[in-house]
Amino acid sequence: MTTSISQPLVLGIETSCDETGIGIVRGEELLVDAVASSVDEHARFGGVVPEVASRAHLEEMIPTLERAARDSGVALTDLDGIAVTSGPGLAGSLMVGVAAAKALALALGLPLYGVNHLASHVAVDIVEHGPLPEPTVAMLVSGGHSSLLLVPDVTHDIRSLGSTIDDAAGEAFDKVARVLGLGFPGGPHIDRAAQDGQITIDFPRGLSTRRDLERHRFDFSFSGLKTAVARWVESRRVAGADVPVADVAASFQEAVTDVLTRKAIDACREYDVAALQIGGGVAANSRLRAMAQERCDAAGIALRVPRRALCTDNGAMVASLGAQMMLKGRPASDLSLPADSSMPVTDVQSGLPVTVDHDHAH
Ligand code: KG4
Ligand code: ZN
Repeated sequence: MTTSISQPLVLGIETSCDETGIGIVRGEELLVDAVASSVDEHARFGGVVPEVASRAHLEEMIPTLERAARDSGVALTDLDGIAVTSGPGLAGSLMVGVAAAKALALALGLPLYGVNHLASHVAVDIVEHGPLPEPTVAMLVSGGHSSLLLVPDVTHDIRSLGSTIDDAAGEAFDKVARVLGLGFPGGPHIDRAAQDGQITIDFPRGLSTRRDLERHRFDFSFSGLKTAVARWVESRRVAGADVPVADVAASFQEAVTDVLTRKAIDACREYDVAALQIGGGVAANSRLRAMAQERCDAAGIALRVPRRALCTDNGAMVASLGAQMMLKGRPASDLSLPADSSMPVTDVQSGLPVTVDHDHAH
């Protein structure tokens, strides 16, 4: 089924990790972004527990859906389409969202779009800053991913320029926060602690030597940095000295944001792209936002970063990508679309009829 409507009213469902997100957009306008997070249930384990997340999605799906409809005043029968995160993410969690989306699409007789979580992080910026320049370079930095992408068309053509070879950027924030005795998830705690700190320690910049850059120009590595911070802190403790938490947080944060922004701008230059979009939970980081702005201004690159609530996982991002697919007349997914925990970033949509997408046949 191919549908092209001028202002499609689309409901998006996101359940790839620990947020149950239901968002509704009309074309490029955000109507509602309802999110229920199970993060507090995971905090005492220091990381997301998949079984706990799946159960929370089951419990929160209907109440979140009802809240989204109530707060937006949208009747489900007025919708033009349903979009859902098909992957990547936690298998059991994805299944809850995909099953709910299929049920809604079937009951309401609507086209269904199974979409990539990472592409959705890019597409959400459309409801914030309008149409995405084509092409755009996108940098996605979250708890599960750190990727640099070339995006000629967010609805069906995303190319990977590089990604992390070990920890994701958000994972590094979470692990370093743990070393410093801060809470989970670590990013916001480090962000806050760093506000009172000085950049006094020169922590290593991963994959940044000339030799590294030959093979890994647009790839990231944060595991060496994490270990360097842990060693530094440990050596202070062994010596019986105080650990200057704020300074360590500020210095660590500086090392991460320095590498991220440097490589992102280098990718824009290499591919002659004048727009950089940053998304994912780590894009909420205040130092990253400030440094990216400074460096983009200096390089003549237009920077697009959505507001913090739209950087972390939510349903609006999925709805936004679904609406773009409808606006561009992309075919709907088949109702048999999978929950694909390892969906590659280059597959923007799942459940596509094989014969339709000639130019992107695998
Ligand atoms: O995109 P997201 O909500 O979920 C995933 O798909 O992973 O990202 C969550 C990650 C966590 O690792 C969290 O520590 C990090 O984003 N994060 C931050 C900040 N807020 C969230 N990292 C740095 N600074 C922040 N302010
Ligand atoms: Zn995410």
